[in-house]
Amino acid sequence: MLKAKGIHKSYGKLHVLKGVDLEINKSEIVSIVGSSGAGKSTLLHILGTLDQPDSGEVFMNGTSLFSLKGDQLAKFRNEQIGFIFQFHNLLPEFTALENIQIPAFIQGKKPDHIHKRAQELAELLGISHRLEHKPNSLSGGEQQRVAVARALINNPAVVFADEPSGNLDTANARLLHELFFTLRKELGQAFVIVTHNEELAEMADRKVIMQDGKIL
Ligand SMILES: Nc1ncnc2c1ncn2[C@@H]1O[C@H](COP(=O)(O)OP(=O)(O)OP(=O)(O)O)[C@@H](O)[C@H]1O
Ligand SMILES: [Mg+2]
Repeated sequence: MLKAKGIHKSYGKLHVLKGVDLEINKSEIVSIVGSSGAGKSTLLHILGTLDQPDSGEVFMNGTSLFSLKGDQLAKFRNEQIGFIFQFHNLLPEFTALENIQIPAFIQGKKPDHIHKRAQELAELLGISHRLEHKPNSLSGGEQQRVAVARALINNPAVVFADEPSGNLDTANARLLHELFFTLRKELGQAFVIVTHNEELAEMADRKVIMQDGKIL
């Protein structure tokens, strides 16, 4: 489904990605591990089209993503890709429900439809009783589950997560990890998860090890 070929990326003189090839199948859960500075976040951002490679290509179902024009790429990203960050990046002025719905409003779906979908996801994630609260009155685990719901609201084909449980205690981390597998079963998304959590890395269908800008 998603295919990266010969990805190179440098920041100034620092050659961060040195020819990365990676393929992600539909509904597959892949973990990416490796030491700090290996290039994991850089790769994830490029796979998720948040950043451009210096050379190499990323294909989604045969379409070369970086050949898309700005607004086409933005549309593609909004429709096909979800992102979960280590620090959830929720908007503090908006309620949990509003945060979840924002990507769907950007897509221009009907408010009724969006609201129904947000409620369903909240139910699935066990946060439906917290939806009227703003992020700062939610626990870390709840905030992260709101971020997961936001990543899923447009039914993306693939969700990228960068150390999603890095900021959670063991119990909440485990809960979140189990959720990824439940979600895949219920909704069929692929998940690409960068993690330092050994347990999560091993739970994945496939573990990819990055070292010094390359996949081993
Ligand atoms: N915007 C940037 N400008 C300059 N250097 C950068 C930038 N982003 C990342 N780097 C450098 O690129 C290298 C790879 O960074 P990256 O964030 O991909 O590592 P990582 O594998 O995600 O590490 P960690 O496990 O610590 O999150 C690091 O040396 C980092 O300092
Ligand atoms: Mg990182």
